[in-house]
Amino acid sequence: MYINFWYPMIRSEDLSPGKPEKVKVLGLHFAVYRTDAGEPIVLSDTCVHRGGSLSGPWELGAQPRIVKDCLVCPYHGWEFAADGSCVSIPSIGYGTKPPTRAKVDSYPAVEKYGIVFAFLGDLPESERPPMLEIPEWDAPGWRANTVITLDLNYYYERSIENGLDPAHNEFVHPTHGFKGINRETYKVRDYDVRDYEQGWGMWFLHRFDTPGLQDKTWDEAQTRAGGLFAGSGTHGPATMITEINVGEGQTFKQYFIEQPIDAKHTRVFFVNMRNFMLDPKNDGPIHARNKIIAQQDIDILENVYPPLTPISNVKEVLMPADKAVVAYRQWLAKFDDRGWRIDWEELSRRNHRNTAFAIPSPRRREGGSWVIEAVPLVSSRDARKAAQDE
Ligand code: FES
Ligand SMILES: [Fe+2]
Repeated sequence: MYINFWYPMIRSEDLSPGKPEKVKVLGLHFAVYRTDAGEPIVLSDTCVHRGGSLSGPWELGAQPRIVKDCLVCPYHGWEFAADGSCVSIPSIGYGTKPPTRAKVDSYPAVEKYGIVFAFLGDLPESERPPMLEIPEWDAPGWRANTVITLDLNYYYERSIENGLDPAHNEFVHPTHGFKGINRETYKVRDYDVRDYEQGWGMWFLHRFDTPGLQDKTWDEAQTRAGGLFAGSGTHGPATMITEINVGEGQTFKQYFIEQPIDAKHTRVFFVNMRNFMLDPKNDGPIHARNKIIAQQDIDILENVYPPLTPISNVKEVLMPADKAVVAYRQWLAKFDDRGWRIDWEELSRRNHRNTAFAIPSPRRREGGSWVIEAVPLVSSRDARKAAQDE
């Protein structure tokens, strides 16, 4: 898991005015709420007074939880402004200036594609990897299904790698192929991997020798122009993009914007674009089919071992069809070398003991003292390997 990327926090429709929501990402909690004007605000969830949860119990609260765009801690009523500064401490009297140490991390937040995103890291704006672009979103001739979320009981990298894998379809998804493999002719075609056009990941386009329609015979499929082309790629560590060309000029473009919750849980924000069957009445059936396909993957991935991907190539036997997975891992190594990877072993060892952690926010670069400790990071891929070899 990496800091310094944009992550989906919550669907826009799930964030109501006046009610903070608790969201867990990268192993830590965040409080998400809206200002009176509707702007989304994302704060680290831990109150610097004595550890109250800023998003904390909503129903039990005796006092309003959002006052003048400030989030009010449910424990002793400290009020935190959108930039994370504490502006009121009731016990010393409203209007008395709080100490400057009384602040929490506040993260840049943007609402787009029906999702509230936050930049979880401390990079200044000019150095941040860009947010994912969905060029089809506003393009004429394209339609988006409403964003749905899928909850997975496994690590996000396992999920991303599965989406980059052209060799599993025939085995996991009966509706994708011929209800079984043709042992005489089946083989995964070679393919080339390149960088994704948005610059922070990889991309490949692959020809499947299947029509994607179960009523076609093998011969019909072979005569069909081009077969079925599908491509997959990544943007940053936790977004996977898939393009499926099901026929002449008929394309699904699917964005799996993943929220790494912890080592065992992931929430996928799924944006599904299409340029055919544009009638909204098709949304339901398309959703239903996608859910069936997703469940087939889930059933496999919940049983994969070890839960996290091995760091060493000699712990697996990789084949040419795994080229895309290897390319994704090479991108992760680049993020490691920037020092953005959370030291999960160290965090797990110390978390939930007597130390609270937060993802560092951009304001930390301005200095000042910060009460909540920043998450431990790994300095490079080599350092990570060395630690794991011990
Ligand atoms: S713990 Fe938040 S106000 Fe006391
Ligand atoms: Fe799959």
